[in-house]
Amino acid sequence: MASTLMAVSLVGCGASTSAGTPAPAASEAPAATAEAAPAATAEAAAAATDGDLSTKKVGVCIYQFSDNFMTLFRTELENYLISLGFSKENITIADGANDQATQTNQIDTFITDGVDVLIINPVNSSSAATITDKVVAANIPLVYINREPDESEEARWKDNGWKVTYVGCDARQSGTMQGEIIADLGLDAIDFNKNGKVDYIMIEGDPENVDAQYRTEFSVKALTDKGLEVNCLSDQVGNWDQTQGQQLVANALGQFGNDVEVVFCNNDAMALGAKQAIADAGRTVGKDIYLVGVDALTEVCEDVLSGAITGTVFNDHIAQSHSSADAAVNFLTGKTNEYYIGCDYVKVTKDNAQSILDSLK
Ligand code: GAL
Repeated sequence: MASTLMAVSLVGCGASTSAGTPAPAASEAPAATAEAAPAATAEAAAAATDGDLSTKKVGVCIYQFSDNFMTLFRTELENYLISLGFSKENITIADGANDQATQTNQIDTFITDGVDVLIINPVNSSSAATITDKVVAANIPLVYINREPDESEEARWKDNGWKVTYVGCDARQSGTMQGEIIADLGLDAIDFNKNGKVDYIMIEGDPENVDAQYRTEFSVKALTDKGLEVNCLSDQVGNWDQTQGQQLVANALGQFGNDVEVVFCNNDAMALGAKQAIADAGRTVGKDIYLVGVDALTEVCEDVLSGAITGTVFNDHIAQSHSSADAAVNFLTGKTNEYYIGCDYVKVTKDNAQSILDSLK
């Protein structure tokens, strides 16, 4: 633990974390659709008749099993694959343990074992080109999930007509929704220290990930777009992790005390850590501080209902896992996919948290 915490780096307020990185292809992405184009070639049509999914082997790579959201995602993915006709023993899910070298070995093993399709949540999105090259060379269709490769990588799939696609959401939307949840409270309700500004701290996910970059940027942008003046007190990396989130928020509350009016967390795991740190500091969400996350974990929806967390944004693991399985099936049955398969986020406040909870049952 100590070494993980020591590795936490300071991002710095006002630093545009996405500066210098190419805009992801999401900006160019067509409207969300999981619809497949019909099989075009005789070969594809022949493959389409071989529809027995129970004999098909699926390799799934998850960047890290201990991630709460990706645990929901992979559990739903496996159940849905089975409901589509795949055999449980033919679905292998590997834990990349947040180490690209480990995951690359797992991909090599899947290729040697001759899996029929791969679904990959990369440890580092920047390794996508290397991963794609080896998977395409082995003639295995590939569905990337959750961590979007960059625009130039996605362009290669299209230019070469490769059986590769990406399933995920546009993180800008989730960041914007986080900011709107706060902005909708109005400056009077937020500005406890009466300096005319929204004083906030930002707890970021993995900085290599566009989800973290965009949620950070767009949550604040939603405030300034509504004409609110903002003041970033602290911006730090918590790597999507609850314990790190708690520690970072405890530190910031210790340093900035009552000046902290809003805590933005790039995900709910870190928001749960923040909730604890806020309680430990004797502060009360909704009375002298606000807290928002992303994912809509069950525990967080319950906290939103009780008022212990101000709001979150539903990251639809059900739609995303189903779309990725459907895309895999399309490839296996000789159909094609769009190169980007999107999904909408949903803003979650006290008003709709119960219906989100009900939909997750
Ligand atoms: C995000 C999610 C985070 C974390 C991350 C992993 O979409 O909100 O909780 O799971 O993916 O890449």
